[in-house]
Amino acid sequence: MRPRELWRTTPFRLTLFNGAVFALAVMALLGLIYWRTAGYISHQLDAIVVSEARALASAGAESLPRRVREAVAADGRAISYYGLFSADGVWIEGNVHRLPPDAVPDGAPRDLRETGFQPGARAVVQRLPWGELLFVGHDAKVLSGLREIIVNALAVSGAVILLLGLAAAAALSLAPLRRIDHLRAASRAALRGELGVRLPVSRRRDEIDMLAGLANAMMDETERLLWEVKSVGDNVAHDLRTPLNRLRAMLYRVSQETRLEGPDREMIDRALAETDELLIRFRALLRIGEIERRDRQACFEPVRLQSVLEHVLELHEPSAEDRGVTLDCDTIQAAPPIFADPGLLFEAVSNLVDNALKFTPSGGRVRLRLLMRDEGPRIEVVDNGPGVPDDEREAVLNRFYRSQRTRTEPGSGLGLSIVTAIARLHHFTLSLDDARPGLRVALDCWPRGLEA
Ligand SMILES: Nc1ncnc2c1ncn2[C@@H]1O[C@H](COP(=O)(O)OP(=O)(O)O)[C@@H](O)[C@H]1O
Ligand SMILES: [Mg+2]
Repeated sequence: MRPRELWRTTPFRLTLFNGAVFALAVMALLGLIYWRTAGYISHQLDAIVVSEARALASAGAESLPRRVREAVAADGRAISYYGLFSADGVWIEGNVHRLPPDAVPDGAPRDLRETGFQPGARAVVQRLPWGELLFVGHDAKVLSGLREIIVNALAVSGAVILLLGLAAAAALSLAPLRRIDHLRAASRAALRGELGVRLPVSRRRDEIDMLAGLANAMMDETERLLWEVKSVGDNVAHDLRTPLNRLRAMLYRVSQETRLEGPDREMIDRALAETDELLIRFRALLRIGEIERRDRQACFEPVRLQSVLEHVLELHEPSAEDRGVTLDCDTIQAAPPIFADPGLLFEAVSNLVDNALKFTPSGGRVRLRLLMRDEGPRIEVVDNGPGVPDDEREAVLNRFYRSQRTRTEPGSGLGLSIVTAIARLHHFTLSLDDARPGLRVALDCWPRGLEA
């Protein structure tokens, strides 16, 4: 699973988004708590400094310096500040030795912004009835402690939310991604032309399942339509075969039982030959339908390709000799057996050799080869005949297509279609190439890659 894929999934993004919203909410909540608490504490500090200043002021001019000294001594936590100054600001008593420069002696509490005090400290400066100035301040250590706690809580909870959010997002997206991977694999099989595959649908019936179900319904319909179209062709071939057979039997009887001579006999013989040709085509068409409908691995077994090629060679040697074409076979004994339908493989290679012999003029050469590639064995049929031009190499695989250049040879244009159907059933790859001169047909005997 690549990180980029993870990031693109909806669960991943949604979870991260939720995490961000949650983190913002936590920050807002803690901020609100701090703000309200700070206001409350500031209020309390004001009450403290005002009441202390009032209590000290009530002592009278004589006893005030002593009272101030006592108050300083009594402040064990060092959070209170006292200062008694003469009317022109000269220090008399207390632990504050200098009045703040912006002090206003009106007895109202204000923020104490001097260095050395915690932010939020409050102080009051009061002019006493006999002219002296009294300073009373209170530090806000509680407030800064609280702020520290809140900032720490924010940092820790932020990190935890981030990590948990990422982990949850990844965990939540992995399952859907895995399912998408299964869907992808199934779709690739469908794209390769396997009509039977369907996308996996879980019992959860969620949105992915809904889409998969929809795709499956479409595939059902496509498969049904395709079989319908195919069966029309097959049915036509099937239904016409019987009357054609009867027609052939009748023509045969006419040719045997009448004593026709000259052009009349020729005509009957030609009619017989044409009927035979038609029958061959119908048989080939039915054969293709049969291969396409076959349950894929019904007759699969380990096959030694060497022996398949040897049998093909054996079968075609006489006709090669008749045509004056050299037919040789070049196999490697070490090729491991493959899992395939031996009968169908024989039919495919036989068709290829049949073509090569048919189209290669006398004196030519046809080679049957078995090669080993990294992925598996490859069967090649190479001839030095006329070959198939570049722009016709795809078309000759279609049903009934025959190249203009080789029309003189008998044939139905269905041989390569049968080979294609067999290759497709095995998931093998059939390819046509220029052998300079001639044609090289290769059958790669390993399942085609999923990405194809
Ligand atoms: N070995 C070959 N050399 C040249 N042309 C070929 C060869 N094999 C096939 N072809 C071309 O491909 C066409 C289709 O082949 P195929 O389906 O076997 O039909 P058929 O053999 O009945 O003509 C042939 O008509 C021919 O034009
Ligand atoms: Mg052929």
